Amino acid sequence: MTQLETYIKENEGRFLEDLKGWLRIPSISTLPEHAGDIQRAAEYAAEQLRHIGFDSVEVIGTQGHPLVYGEWLKAEGKPTLLVYGHYDVQPVDPIELWKSPPFEPTVRGDNLYCRGACDDKGQTMLVLKAMESLMAVNGALPVNVKVLIEGEEEAGGASVEAYVQDHAERLKCDAAFICDTHMPSKDTPALISGLRGIVYTEVEVRGAKQDLHSGSYGGVAPNPLHTLAVIIVGLKDAEGHIHIPGLYDKLRQPTPEEKKFWQEDPLHMNESLMAEMGVLEFTGEAEYPPLERIWGRPTLEVHGIVGGFTGEGAKTVIPAVAKAKISLRLPADLNSKEVFTLFERQVKELAPSGVEVTVRNLHSGEGVLVSLDSPAIRAAIEALKETYGKEPVFIREGGSIPIAALFDEVLHVPVVLMGFGLPDDNLHSPNEKYSLSQFYKGLRTVASFLQKLGYKE
Ligand code: BES
Ligand code: MN
Ligand code: MN
Repeated sequence: MTQLETYIKENEGRFLEDLKGWLRIPSISTLPEHAGDIQRAAEYAAEQLRHIGFDSVEVIGTQGHPLVYGEWLKAEGKPTLLVYGHYDVQPVDPIELWKSPPFEPTVRGDNLYCRGACDDKGQTMLVLKAMESLMAVNGALPVNVKVLIEGEEEAGGASVEAYVQDHAERLKCDAAFICDTHMPSKDTPALISGLRGIVYTEVEVRGAKQDLHSGSYGGVAPNPLHTLAVIIVGLKDAEGHIHIPGLYDKLRQPTPEEKKFWQEDPLHMNESLMAEMGVLEFTGEAEYPPLERIWGRPTLEVHGIVGGFTGEGAKTVIPAVAKAKISLRLPADLNSKEVFTLFERQVKELAPSGVEVTVRNLHSGEGVLVSLDSPAIRAAIEALKETYGKEPVFIREGGSIPIAALFDEVLHVPVVLMGFGLPDDNLHSPNEKYSLSQFYKGLRTVASFLQKLGYKE
């Protein structure tokens, strides 16, 4: 056994305890009442970096939630890797569906259940522990490393975006590494070749100056809830086609290899998707394979509608106001700001006269297609081959990690998207979990990735 393997084996239990300590902090970025937890989760990450031996470790205040930064730059002549992770998590509702409390990390079988267990505390922690192990055994890391951990990813990531724009020199590197994605299954290692961007909006419709009796005014009063329904079905039809003029204009076609993979679905991902969703058929654009619909097509979803009366019983009221949260997922090349402009115009176009419609851009971020030809990607391929005994597959993800596009654009470096989540990890849902075997295997893979990156140059 190598010294590294011995160290990892001896410390596996503590690695897990350190993760659990982080998970117990309910760092929900979108809820203001958790601001104190956000601060504590940031301090916790900074402490981990100090313990490893990172220099210049800082919790950096921002307009929003703090960033955590640390660097270790003593591998002279070796490349510099920028490691990104996020310590914030999504809200936990509906809480009654959790089998164990959302912020009490609980092991059942091979899984650790907790909000953030996978996304992204578990995945970030395994990277930190890979670095701890290398440092403990060798007294040094095989490459120079800069670590940036943010606390606002799940809420749009505005602060980290501003920080990267303003501190490109400090973050200068040869490659970026993000551990916040999935593999198709435990024995199918993967590297992610593309992510979709997002534009998340709120549409508010105002009608009468106050709520009205639906008998006295029904027939002549504007109904903002009904207006929202008209707008929503106008934006996307029952066949999944989005009717926003100009939306599809800049969409780049996938490569023939990608198209073939999506059509043939050699890993039977379609079946898994249905099983994960618990449905018997897919919706959406029937002329595109399901994987293309998720990975390569823009989509529009309604997340919630509020207004009027939703309590038990019945109340005959015409609401004065209604609001909907609507987002679009955008393959790279569809710019989120441009799409917002097109979206806003079309929403106004669809609204009948007599109501006031406001469209807000709550947050947005760009998609990315990563170059698969870089020393960093080659090191990642080799590392995955070593730990999983197989060539990784290249797949896209339908989700968004806006920082990936920013690293590409602002720092001009290749981005390695290598994560160890599994399709049934329940991200953003009740009973989020992380596979313990994936945690430990991921840790070993990342240690090997850093070593291989160090050999290359
Ligand atoms: N880690 C996810 C993105 C992801 C999801 C990657 C599934 C691979 C598989 C990330 O934390 C996330 O949830 N991003 C948000 C971004 C948004 C709030 C800007 C998303 O995709 O909804
Ligand atoms: Mn994430
Ligand atoms: Mn997430």
